[in-house]
Amino acid sequence: MALKITVIGTGYLGATHAAAMAELGFEVLGLDVVPEKIELLSSGRVPMYEPGLEDLLRRHVAGAEGSTGRLRFTTSWEEVGAFGDVHFVCVNTPQKHGEYACDMSFVDAAFASLAPHLHGPALVVGKSTVPVGSAERLARVLEEQSPGDVELAWNPEFLREGFAVDDTLHPDRIVVGVRSTHAEKLLREVYATPVAEGSPFVVTDYPTAELVKTAANSFLATKISFINAMAEVCEAAGGDVVKLAEAIGHDERIGRKFLRAGVGFGGGCLPKDIRAFMARAGELGADQALTFLREVDSVNMRRRGHMVELAREAVGGGSFLGKRVAVLGATFKPDSDDVRDSPALNVAGQIQLQGGQVTVYDPKGNDNARRLFPTLAYADSAQEAVRGADVVLHLTEWREFRELDPAVLGEAVSGRIILDGRNALDGEAWRAAGWTYRAMGRPRA
Ligand code: UDX
Repeated sequence: MALKITVIGTGYLGATHAAAMAELGFEVLGLDVVPEKIELLSSGRVPMYEPGLEDLLRRHVAGAEGSTGRLRFTTSWEEVGAFGDVHFVCVNTPQKHGEYACDMSFVDAAFASLAPHLHGPALVVGKSTVPVGSAERLARVLEEQSPGDVELAWNPEFLREGFAVDDTLHPDRIVVGVRSTHAEKLLREVYATPVAEGSPFVVTDYPTAELVKTAANSFLATKISFINAMAEVCEAAGGDVVKLAEAIGHDERIGRKFLRAGVGFGGGCLPKDIRAFMARAGELGADQALTFLREVDSVNMRRRGHMVELAREAVGGGSFLGKRVAVLGATFKPDSDDVRDSPALNVAGQIQLQGGQVTVYDPKGNDNARRLFPTLAYADSAQEAVRGADVVLHLTEWREFRELDPAVLGEAVSGRIILDGRNALDGEAWRAAGWTYRAMGRPRA
């Protein structure tokens, strides 16, 4: 009989994982402690913008027209405990307020709520990004609090927002931290389809599985800050970081990906993961090993300040008072409505706090941005955002912005100056339309 799967927590990770498990042919029950989320998901809608996710959900959610009916949602722990053979814990681990460490309260609460309801044999699989050592501790919680024969595995998730569905269905690797061949066998069954399609399946112990995730994100963050550090040097020396990235990227050992210089990384993962990793290494007495991540973080944060200074220079070099600044982009990356720790919003906020009149437009992120920064002005289109602007800042590389017609936009602004914080626009086209185009880490033209 096919395995029955539950997914606990229905955010980006959980909602996608639940729908993907149903797509792979399993019966799936998703749980969240927020009843409104469950209501929304049960009606075939997702609470965030993620390309392809709603279609996938509708293909499987019970009650939707023509669906397989393999996917249901609930708020009942009892139902989840009775239903599943394999329980995936997908709750989030945000940064603690005022500290670098990550907040484990949602993970802890999930395990505490689930454990007493596990009466039969079951495998609990942690997918949340956690400090190394958590799995060992949580395995003890299950041992002490579950009436049934329950085991724990750790199976980190590497999905990227904007590509969540594809990354989940076709992962570039599957990592499982296990303590028994039984747990490994169950997870091989769960992931049989992607493994058959070629996804490597890496079996480790608990701490290695936990570390793989934080190490991967630290490497990616380091790569971005490396190229941004090169951008700083290029600016000082008159070089071109885009050409430099292209040239070093031809070396296969370096590779071209994740070498896009600009306002740097943000989002719900990279910034908080490198900080939590440093905090955990400190607790383990290995803080020296990760001091370089402090530099990675500070190069990254410096990019935001640098963009503010470029904008100041563009409006005359003094105060922002009385200056109109248009910001194109609010999300931390395109194809997402996620504004968590977004460089775009951070820059917009800094300029506004210094007296600038800032108008933001994002194709999908306006609503979330408004909740976070209600005092900024928001426009419904790029055209509207730039009206009367003294300078335009391009801070999230949505396709829509790459396709803007600089000549048309030029009619609406007060000053034709565009600062490209993502090195993604066609500088020549903007210049040809009479704009001053400036990009980060590139010569002024
Ligand atoms: C990241 C990891 O990529 C993913 O594997 C992990 O599971 C979660 O964290 P995500 O946060 O969705 O995924 O975004 P990612 O595509 O990694 O981009 C992170 C940030 O880096 C964005 O703000 C993006 O704009 C920025 N970035 C990325 C750059 O500034 N330059 C680059 O070259 C690449």
